[in-house]
Amino acid sequence: MAMEQTLCIIKPDAVSRNYIGRINTRIEERGMRIIALKMLWLSKSRAEEFYAVHRGRSFYEPLVSFMSSGPVVVQVLSGEDAINDYRKLIGKTNPLKAAPGTLRADFSGARHSGALYENALHGSDQLETARAEIPFFFKQHELHPR
Ligand code: RTP
Ligand code: MG
Repeated sequence: MAMEQTLCIIKPDAVSRNYIGRINTRIEERGMRIIALKMLWLSKSRAEEFYAVHRGRSFYEPLVSFMSSGPVVVQVLSGEDAINDYRKLIGKTNPLKAAPGTLRADFSGARHSGALYENALHGSDQLETARAEIPFFFKQHELHPR
């Protein structure tokens, strides 16, 4: 398996509920390494840009409002097959259908609000996406592979 880097965002629902540490413990226990991280509050226009691929979809406006509603943690994970492995760890996009034990099943705001876009985590969905998403938030010298 190839060593890969992937972008993880801990979304506002999980940050506001104080789940950063619990989520990162699961990521580290899975064997992935956090090689960059920061907390920031996305402006609406930055959130629009990040999710531009979904422009026009019914959930786009609420998604962008949600992603700019409070601070997020953005981080780069590294590991063997990290892109797919991390997507498996977080579970299905719809957090109410995510398998028990996945991060979205355990930490999503949707469990309380019913809003499906409140699914706790983002993960790059393929290599090309990761290669575009990581520089959206980090300069090369901010990554510390180890
Ligand atoms: P992400 O990009 O955040 O890692 O999520 P994903 O690949 O699993 O899902 P994607 O299809 O890329 O959707 C991006 C985000 O939009 C919200 N969403 N809401 N029907 C809905 O209400 C709906 N569908 C998607 C979620 O926050 C999803 O993560
Ligand atoms: Mg996606």
